[in-house]
Formats: sequence, C-alpha cells, structure tokens
Amino acid sequence: MERLQKYMASCGVCSRRKAEEYIKDGKVSVNGETITEMGYKVGKDDVVRFMDKVIMPETDKIYIMLNKPEGCLTTVTDDRNRKTVMDLISGITERIYPVGRLDYNTSGLLILTNDGEAANHLTHPRNHIDKVYEARVQRIPEPAEIFFFESGIFLDGRKTAPSKLEIISEKPPVLRITIHEGRNRQVRRMLEEIDNKAITLKRISVGQLFLGDLKKGKFRKLTENEINYIRSL
Ligand code: URA
Repeated sequence: MERLQKYMASCGVCSRRKAEEYIKDGKVSVNGETITEMGYKVGKDDVVRFMDKVIMPETDKIYIMLNKPEGCLTTVTDDRNRKTVMDLISGITERIYPVGRLDYNTSGLLILTNDGEAANHLTHPRNHIDKVYEARVQRIPEPAEIFFFESGIFLDGRKTAPSKLEIISEKPPVLRITIHEGRNRQVRRMLEEIDNKAITLKRISVGQLFLGDLKKGKFRKLTENEINYIRSL
C-alpha cells in the first residue's frame, strides 16, 4: 500500500506535490470514488483514475540479448527441472521472458524482455522480420534442391514463405538460411525436406539485431539504438 500522491507520481502522471493539488481538486478517484483525503492509501488491486483515465505504475522496460547455448529450453519454467534460458540470466530483477523460441539444440540470438509490445513487434508475421541462421549440414545441396528450398516447402500442409539459402563454406558444409516465419523447428524440417540435416544450428540475427561476438551462454542489455529499432517496427 502506498500514498495516493506517491502512486500517481510512480505512474509518471506528475510530481507528488502536483498530485496533492489534483487530489484536493477532486480530479482523482479510486475504485470509482473521488478521493480528496490526503494520506489515502492504495494497493495494486485498486483502480486509480486521474481525470477519468485509468493510470498505472510505469515498470522499467528491459531488453536482453542472450547467446543461447545448446542443451537448454526456451521457457521461463520447466516442470521437469531441466535447464532453461532463465538459468543463464543473473542480476535482473524484472520479470522477463523469451521472445519466440529456439529449439533445445539450437544456439544463438534470443531476446528476452518484459515489454509485451516489443515482443509482439518482433514476432508478428506482418513485420516480415528476417531471421538468419547458420547451419552446419550433412552435405552441400544441389542447385535444384536450393531452388526447391527457397521457393517454399510444404510443412504441415502449408507452404513456407520464400526463403534464402546461401552456401558459406563447402568444407565443412555450412549454409546461411534466411526465413521470416517462426514455425516449429522450421529450418530443421525444411532441410529434412531436401534430404539434408542440420548438424548444428545457430541464429545469428533477427532483423537489425545481430549476435556479433557475444559468447555462448552470455547475455547483454540491448543498446539504445537497438531498442529504438524494435520500437520503430
Ligand atoms: N528453426 C529450427 O529448426 N529450430 C530453431 O530453433 C529455430 C528455427
């Protein structure tokens, strides 16, 4: 419970001093009742309105990039007590969660945030955000297989959107694959459809967010520019 004027300030509405004036002037209500009493206390379940608009405390938005290693789950909790990406994050008190998902055995760029809107921007199919993967594969695909792969492959009866497949090394065979959807095990299944197999799979970028030299298992906060990029989507 905290004093109404302090609560209003924490909502970013005004200073505490100004809030006292607004309360005195009858511009503030709690659960539908106008409050003019100065020390009135509110808790998290109370609905506070200022000039008839509901106000809520601002929570700090936080954005993390993790280089997810293989052998951990992209989830906040696991009922079987397996290792999750959350076990790799320390020193963050906000309740964050992963944006999208990487398979247990996929490594690379994963964003975690408490900003639901940003998470939505990054995953919404409408935004056509390129996700780039590096795959060490069994063998270099034939030109016809590359054509087939890039034109779209039927997975679960629905064709994937056009994608890109580039050969970045012949020995060992490594491909760079760009997709902009996020279907279940999409890259692995697309490779299986051309009789190939991802031996390792790593995500190196999502839109304008790049993994760079962030070490496996390490995380960092996004820069101001990266946050602005997400918000601009
Ligand atoms: N495609 C996959 O097959 N796995 C991932 O983790 C991400 C994309």
